[in-house]
Amino acid sequence: MQQNIVFSDQALELQATARKIADEYVRPGAAHADKHSEYNMKAAKAVASAGLFRAWIPEAYGGVDAGILSLAIVAEELAKADSGFGVAYAVNALGSFPILLGGTEEQKQKWMPKIAAGETFVAFCLSEKFAGSDASGLAVTAVRDGDHYVINGEKKWTTNGGVADVYTVFAVTDATSKSRRISAFIVEKGTPGFTIEKIEDKMGIRGVPVVETHFNDVRVPVENLIGGREGLGFKHAMMTLDHARPGVAAQAVGASQGALDLANVYACRRVQFGKPISQHQMVQKMLADMAMKTEAARQLTYAAAAAIDVNGPSPANSKMAAMAKCFASDVAMEVATDAVQVFGGYGFMEDYPIAKFFRDAKILQIYEGTNQIQRMVISRHLVREANDLEHLKDFIPSEEQKSYGAQPTTAT
Ligand code: CAA
Repeated sequence: MQQNIVFSDQALELQATARKIADEYVRPGAAHADKHSEYNMKAAKAVASAGLFRAWIPEAYGGVDAGILSLAIVAEELAKADSGFGVAYAVNALGSFPILLGGTEEQKQKWMPKIAAGETFVAFCLSEKFAGSDASGLAVTAVRDGDHYVINGEKKWTTNGGVADVYTVFAVTDATSKSRRISAFIVEKGTPGFTIEKIEDKMGIRGVPVVETHFNDVRVPVENLIGGREGLGFKHAMMTLDHARPGVAAQAVGASQGALDLANVYACRRVQFGKPISQHQMVQKMLADMAMKTEAARQLTYAAAAAIDVNGPSPANSKMAAMAKCFASDVAMEVATDAVQVFGGYGFMEDYPIAKFFRDAKILQIYEGTNQIQRMVISRHLVREANDLEHLKDFIPSEEQKSYGAQPTTAT
């Protein structure tokens, strides 16, 4: 068991529960969910009745207030058994964060207890066909009409679409504004005009649906405008992603560990040249590197999650969340690739679960912000932080002053 930071008893309990459910329901159902593109509802119900959807939700709204760190360690355990199921769990946090972070007290009281109980599943509708990384370039519109908003347009890549009962939907309410263009709405499944039009055929995470959601004159009451004011949507989306990215990083850590565990067991059993391949140095190096990278990703993920729990939203935590998501998902792809290599020819076949780990890993580098976007976020923070490094100014002479080996002019 890996845990090098001090978890609360509550977090350890949630972790143990998640591990039990992963062993009992998630891992045994993973191949079927993958082959038949079927959502593992039995596992989701077990997660709900064990109270794991309560993890990140404050007590005032039916949760147990165990924070983002607990969300991360639960997601890690579930993803270790089945990467796809890791996101089926964590996407409920992604979908609920706009309400939790930006909603009015009434909205939180109305929606969060049902989400905490696992009676209501949630999805997050931000991306569109022509607005993926450029999240502010949305085209879906919401126009006020009396006591309602009327939503029109199409969303793309909605994870959990069809399974979810509630959707947090980002739409343009003021096309003329730059910073207050977008607002977020709660849309319930079954609202007339709201349809699931396309279930995507995916490379991996096939057990969780990713769909197009279409809005054709969908009328939602003004009470469903998140935060009760127009123009807050983009900020809510960014804050949501900051809170959710440690959860993606945790899925990646789980995926890495799951792939490493399989490769390790296989390497100890597979005999070539008269001994298990785990005794061949080149395989040993691969396994050791996989283990080191996974552990480094885990520690960064826990640190990013814990930082949000301790300090709440902040630019520093936004950077940490992006670093954890980016690093851990790059590690997951590398580890899954090496795990396939350890399995050799068998790794390329679907005979063992390892090929699925490889297929599932790729999306971690793409969803909830591509790793190129994460690096952009990190580097924007770095540029801002350069202003706080005034004390280094004298050591970086200007173009005119600099000459090789010369001492800084004003440093003492
Ligand atoms: N927290 C709060 N506010 C923030 C913020 C943050 N982390 N980041 C930016 N903002 C604010 C800025 O302060 C600015 O506010 P003002 O207008 O008041 O000054 C405003 O938002 C605009 O900021 P930027 O100029 O930085 O915005 P940008 O257009 O350059 O884009 C971006 C920034 C970080 C690239 C953003 O577009 C982004 O995160 N893109 C990636 C989108 C993404 O992750 N999509 C994933 C979809 S969800 C998904 O994948 C779900 C799934 O399937 C599981």
